[in-house]
Amino acid sequence: MTGLTDRFGRVHNYLRISVTDRCNLRCLYCMPEEGVAFADTSTLLSYDQIVEVVEAGAELGISRLRITGGEPLVRPGLADLISRLSNIPGIEDIALTTNALLLAPQAEALRAAGLSRVNISLDTLESSRFRMIARRGELKKVLQGIEAAAAAGFAPIKLNCVLLKGINEDEIASFLKLAYEQPLHVRFIEYMPIGHADENWKKHYLPLSRVHEIAAEQGYNVIPGDAISGNGPSENWTLVGGKGSFGLIHPISDQFCSQCNRLRLTADGFIKPCLYWMDELDVRPALGDRSRLLELYSRAMDLKPESHEMAAKLADESQSHEPTSRRMSQIGG
Ligand code: 5AD
Ligand code: SF4
Repeated sequence: MTGLTDRFGRVHNYLRISVTDRCNLRCLYCMPEEGVAFADTSTLLSYDQIVEVVEAGAELGISRLRITGGEPLVRPGLADLISRLSNIPGIEDIALTTNALLLAPQAEALRAAGLSRVNISLDTLESSRFRMIARRGELKKVLQGIEAAAAAGFAPIKLNCVLLKGINEDEIASFLKLAYEQPLHVRFIEYMPIGHADENWKKHYLPLSRVHEIAAEQGYNVIPGDAISGNGPSENWTLVGGKGSFGLIHPISDQFCSQCNRLRLTADGFIKPCLYWMDELDVRPALGDRSRLLELYSRAMDLKPESHEMAAKLADESQSHEPTSRRMSQIGG
């Protein structure tokens, strides 16, 4: 194994694969409510092509995968893809990020196919507010999806909660209570400016220091937690005496790029060395030729930037080069 080490010495073993840019929700931090132009499905990588890209990555040390979207479960046959990916030598762990609307009927099949873990997006515990943030769908379905995931044996189940100033910050206490009472890991995430109008982002950006303030107000005894399985950039905390735990993902208020171990594959077939910047590499010309695919990964290492510049953006400082114009739904978080 040659390994995927970038110019800053960071070793990459993790690939996030977006399988579609489509979604059955329209979360306000991710997409506009109407008029999103989705990629023609004929432009998406086929499952055969995704498997080929992952096989090459696995040769270079990619061992962990995350399937993202859009909403990955809207793409038919996802369990088949997961089963094929889990059979690739070197692939040890496959996780899924989903809004869970379609999860309940598929949870068992996904588990049987070799899916290791699920992260479920949940930004509110109030049904009317769910419609305000996600603009479609129903909270009840998400909660059923969470139950079905637990029943199918997925553990730990992580909930992704993007905190939005003036929208759901008053629910931090309810989410902490949920993490105390149930064996769930609640991950609070800072709202990131990806492919967005700045006003909306700055208006609703909330630094995660609020979470500790509220935990203290609510009387929780919070201590640093152990790494939770599959742990990425999340800083984990234990609620002493509780069943679950919580994590903080704060790319802006406390950047974690020095630990970055990830690459991304977009649904339309581009390797993105970083979520934030525009640099990307087209995999299509390399398909069918293993040595060219391997070379593409090493070019991704050369292109990998040291860090994003979201904090500079918040401070209205200029950017060192061009941020991506893709939406989060095209990158997969
Ligand atoms: N900022 C932070 N997280 C985001 N996500 C999507 N858009 C954003 C954003 N602008 C994350 C959410 C969601 C997952 C699919 O991607 O956590 O749960
Ligand atoms: Fe869909 Fe996820 Fe984007 Fe929400 S955040 S619109 S669930 S892709």
